[in-house]
Amino acid sequence: MCGIVGAIAERNVVEILLEGLKRLEYRGYDSAGVALLDSDGNLTRIRRTGKVKELADALHKEPVKGSVGIAHTRWATHGGVTEANAHPHFSSERVAVVHNGIIENYQHLRAELSAKGYGFSSDTDTESIAHQVHYELDQGADLLQAVQTAVSKFEGAYGTVIIDKLEPERMIVARSGSPLVIGFGIGENFIASDQMALLPVTRRFMYLEEGDVAEVTRTSVIVYDQSGQVVERDIIESDIEHDAGDKAGYRHYMLKEIHEQPSVVRNCLQGRLGEHDISPNIFGQGADEVLANIKHVQIVACGTSYHSGMTAKYWLEQYANVSCNVEIASEFRYRKSFVHPNSLLVTISQSGETADTLAALRLAKSLGYSSSLTICNVPGSSLVRESDLAFMTLAGAEIGVASTKAFTTQLTGFLMLTLALGKHNGMSDVDHKAIVDGLHSLPSKLEETLSLTQGIKDLAEEFADKHHSLFLGRGDQYPIAMEGALKLKEISYIHAEAYASGELKHGPLALIDDEMPVIVVAPNNELLEKLKSNVEEVRARGGIMYVFADKEAHFQSDKTMRVINVPHCAAAIAPIIYTLPLQLLSYYVAIIKGTDVDQPRNLAKSVTVE
Ligand code: AGP
Repeated sequence: MCGIVGAIAERNVVEILLEGLKRLEYRGYDSAGVALLDSDGNLTRIRRTGKVKELADALHKEPVKGSVGIAHTRWATHGGVTEANAHPHFSSERVAVVHNGIIENYQHLRAELSAKGYGFSSDTDTESIAHQVHYELDQGADLLQAVQTAVSKFEGAYGTVIIDKLEPERMIVARSGSPLVIGFGIGENFIASDQMALLPVTRRFMYLEEGDVAEVTRTSVIVYDQSGQVVERDIIESDIEHDAGDKAGYRHYMLKEIHEQPSVVRNCLQGRLGEHDISPNIFGQGADEVLANIKHVQIVACGTSYHSGMTAKYWLEQYANVSCNVEIASEFRYRKSFVHPNSLLVTISQSGETADTLAALRLAKSLGYSSSLTICNVPGSSLVRESDLAFMTLAGAEIGVASTKAFTTQLTGFLMLTLALGKHNGMSDVDHKAIVDGLHSLPSKLEETLSLTQGIKDLAEEFADKHHSLFLGRGDQYPIAMEGALKLKEISYIHAEAYASGELKHGPLALIDDEMPVIVVAPNNELLEKLKSNVEEVRARGGIMYVFADKEAHFQSDKTMRVINVPHCAAAIAPIIYTLPLQLLSYYVAIIKGTDVDQPRNLAKSVTVE
């Protein structure tokens, strides 16, 4: 989704801005732009549709300099993908603005400002920010006052950076609903929507809080809260490791991230899982005391993270004897829901910035949950900062838009949460030991599973000309089938649907023919015989199946069924293990189809608008 980079320095900041934008490319975008203010007071702007490379080429063709600059990657919401709609937006070549989020009352502001003589040249909501600030400047305010007054008129979400040609010594930034981080340099300072953008220039960061407005100069940062009072915000040292240029020899980030899963799951377990049990308080300070009283879990998330929540529901109810509901965040936040006594709200998110999930957490705070826990991959993100408890998945930066290692580490975290809650709710010793042993074996089982790559590559050939596909699973493999279908559609653009296989005869069987590949996940568990009957239902209707199965499940390849044997594993970790072949299948189908695997069309990594 949209990305922001800003810099104020003595040196020319063009390359810092471009490198920052490149590092935000993974978030997904459709146009990019930069505005620079030089020492003679010239404000210049270059914008391009398409990739940051187009912008970089343009900037190298007609070199522009500036020691103050703002840059942006836009993911269109209001107005099509055109140069005129790309950021930065100007007001009369004086005020320049970049913005993430949506100004919901922009039509009203636009009408008011047009009536006052401010001319609009784009279809965006953002342009009204530029003109509103300009209007306040025209009333005699300085840039800081102008922004403080302007933001009080905005409804919706914004992370915005504003510069004024007549005040070249400072940039003003404002945050409400869309994250912004300030990076501290020596004699220079930076701004971004994601610390990843600034890692080449600093490791010292300050996150703005809701309602903050900050003045950033080369040598100082002053933060004002919503009421206009100067406030202190913590500065953190980031230890995040990420070199955006580093695919470690893999063709795509997604493939690298798939292959990292054994090691990141190992990281996730390290220091948290002892020989016979989990360590104390791995979900945050005081967590064990909180969890001891929990009788119900409400999980809220989006997309892949929602699928990990759905899997967790099976585990929490089967092993930990705790009731659990799972809901898509965009639904949860807009309906009246029932809060069970002693309920824990769990949000799950790779990015920690997903707008709907964050809004759901904020809503839940007023609903009477005993506590909130987030399972998240990004330290310092809004969900981590605003939740009572946090479990960091330690997967390392995930760059591919399609979530892979974030998902399997979320599931690893959920198995540990199952142990933690099960302890207080009568989990059997047998189940406890099975989960602990399963977790110990998980990294090596994942490694073993990656050896299926060649077979899956061959299989992918058979999918490339298909337009539709069906994924089937039962029990805790049903959400894994859903995740497999999501992966395939998001990176290969093949329509994919997932069903609990018992549902087949209630409708989807009508779709079966030899043009509709059916992918089945079949570990050797208590539902195997039921699943086999469902497989026969497909076979009887001429369906072509691809079955990922445990050897002991005794499926045989024949002309209607291709069987790929997955290493045998403990039942508790099977959903994590069976995820890998489905990720690999999507990846290799996408390769054959030649799609943009790491940045699939229309999608964004961090969905910061609702
Ligand atoms: C996964 O492959 C997707 N790109 C997407 O569904 C993602 O999981 C969803 O947008 C939620 O993101 P989050 O985990 O950062 O909250």
